[in-house]
Amino acid sequence: MCGITGYIGDSQAAPVLLGALKKLEYRGYDSAGIAVLDEGTITVRKAKGPLSALEEKLADAVITGSLGIGHTRWATHGEPSDINSHPHTDVSGQIAVVHNGIIENYLSLKEWLQTREVVFRSETDTEVIAHLINFYYTGEKASGGMPKPGFGEPPLLRAVQNALERLEGSYALAIAVADYPDRIIAARKDSPLVIGLGQGENLIASDIPALLPHTRDVIYMEEGELAVLYRDHVELINAQGGRVIRAPSRVEWDAEAAEKGGFAHFMLKEIHDQAKALSDTLRPRIKNGGIVFEEFDFENFSFEACAGEAKRIVITACGTAWHAAMVAKYAFEHFARIPVEVDIASEYRYRNPVPGEKDLVIIISQSGETADTLAAMRLAKKGGNRILAITNVVGSTLAREADLTLFTWAGPEIAVASTKAFTTQLMCLYLLALKLARVRSRVTEGAYRNYIDELARLPLLAEELLSKQKLIQRFASRQFNKTKVFFMGRQFDYAISLESALKLKEISYTHSEAFAAGELKHGPIALVDKNTLVVAIATQTALFDKIISNIKEISARGGASLVITWEDNPFGPVADEVFTIPKTLDPFSPMLAIIPAQLFAYYCSIQRGNNPDKPRNLAKSVTVE
Ligand code: F6R
Repeated sequence: MCGITGYIGDSQAAPVLLGALKKLEYRGYDSAGIAVLDEGTITVRKAKGPLSALEEKLADAVITGSLGIGHTRWATHGEPSDINSHPHTDVSGQIAVVHNGIIENYLSLKEWLQTREVVFRSETDTEVIAHLINFYYTGEKASGGMPKPGFGEPPLLRAVQNALERLEGSYALAIAVADYPDRIIAARKDSPLVIGLGQGENLIASDIPALLPHTRDVIYMEEGELAVLYRDHVELINAQGGRVIRAPSRVEWDAEAAEKGGFAHFMLKEIHDQAKALSDTLRPRIKNGGIVFEEFDFENFSFEACAGEAKRIVITACGTAWHAAMVAKYAFEHFARIPVEVDIASEYRYRNPVPGEKDLVIIISQSGETADTLAAMRLAKKGGNRILAITNVVGSTLAREADLTLFTWAGPEIAVASTKAFTTQLMCLYLLALKLARVRSRVTEGAYRNYIDELARLPLLAEELLSKQKLIQRFASRQFNKTKVFFMGRQFDYAISLESALKLKEISYTHSEAFAAGELKHGPIALVDKNTLVVAIATQTALFDKIISNIKEISARGGASLVITWEDNPFGPVADEVFTIPKTLDPFSPMLAIIPAQLFAYYCSIQRGNNPDKPRNLAKSVTVE
């Protein structure tokens, strides 16, 4: 998804903007650009392709100026091209805009502007914003309201407010205007934006890693807010036009946490981060052998009361987070014996769901900014449900709008394919399931404590498992050319099969699907031939025999098989390969069993010559539908 940034300070803006855009690359993009303001002139440079293409263009000419805005574009309206790249300017070239989001009514605005002789250069929705601001700004100036910096509401701000009022859809915007060399204007609606407060410089960006080389003091912009960034201070204005004072938050994690730390790719680093991330998610919530959610001690939402009363749990999310929800369904039903309904957020929001008065609604999202997930949350809220969010991003829209939030504490996840966010989401969900089980007296105090002790072993077991990555690497080097890879399992293992198939297709571009192993004979077996690899996830000991039969059926049709299972297992004689994971309780297997599948996807991607960190067509944060 697009990344935006802006800089105003004493340094040259162009290198700062390029540095910030590099930190936003992980979001996925197909072109990039910057606009720098100097002595009343805005210079724009943009290029299709990687940032290096933009850097090449910039190498031709020195672009001076200490105010600028920058953008990495992930095409939605109009193909990736130099012209469609941001920044976009108005007809006069005096107003430059970068935008993340989608303007849904851009066609009608475009037609309206065209009747006023505005000539469009690009196919983007964003260009209308620059022209609209110009339209109102010219009007303001014509009516005598010339810029008077620091003296009441300047015409520019009024023009931006008027333009924003006409926009339907989502936006994070940074705007530079030649008449105003002392400020950048930023605005947000349904797309994230963070302000970085530096010494004699201020910045804006879609995400924190872009700010960290300059500052750790940040302000998360709220829905509908405008910000005016000067060199030495920042003004915030809410949707009603009132001034807002908000204390900055301090970013506690290190810039290095967002770097590769010696690994070839962010994805591999993040797979390896999982042992620590699981521990970071678990430890703060264990007190005297029990589970304590200190974040839940709010007056209006006692988790204990809500969980005790809940008749049903509804979980909704997208992609990998939805797979975490699938695992949670089995965990909540197994431990707490409470019915769970799981829905993909994009389905939930349009299917006219029936909210139960005593539903506990859990929303899961790594980024906390996924458009469908936020829409599902708002719908559930409107239906009277209380919302418990699980997210990795402090200050995200989800965290701010939910009644309660459990943070996954996974640290920044940069690779597009989610890994440590998934396992830490699972850890949060297991903690909730066990707490719920205890609150509802579904487990004895002794069993509850034993379960917690076992959860606490998982980071170590993950470490042990990761030390065997070479075995998976070798296996991937033999199998990466398979044209079809199927994952199958039962119950918890079915949920992990879904996530495993997603990982493989995302980064290796291999056609992969998951199915519940019991479904094999109901259709998928028709596809099995000698070009097929079937990976069975087999951690539910009571169902081992069933999986043995499934594997025999696959071998009989020429398919190759790998089983991911416990060390003590019966699969050696039937499967082509067995990869073992250290033993924990069967219901806790998902937090370990996914790791070999992540590694398999990673190494297949490498073997096929792909960049696993930036898979084609995918974006890290899907802030549009
Ligand atoms: C897969 C992946 C996506 C996300 C999905 C939801 O590796 O990353 O499927 O899980 O786009 O994103 P969040 O969790 O940010 O809502």
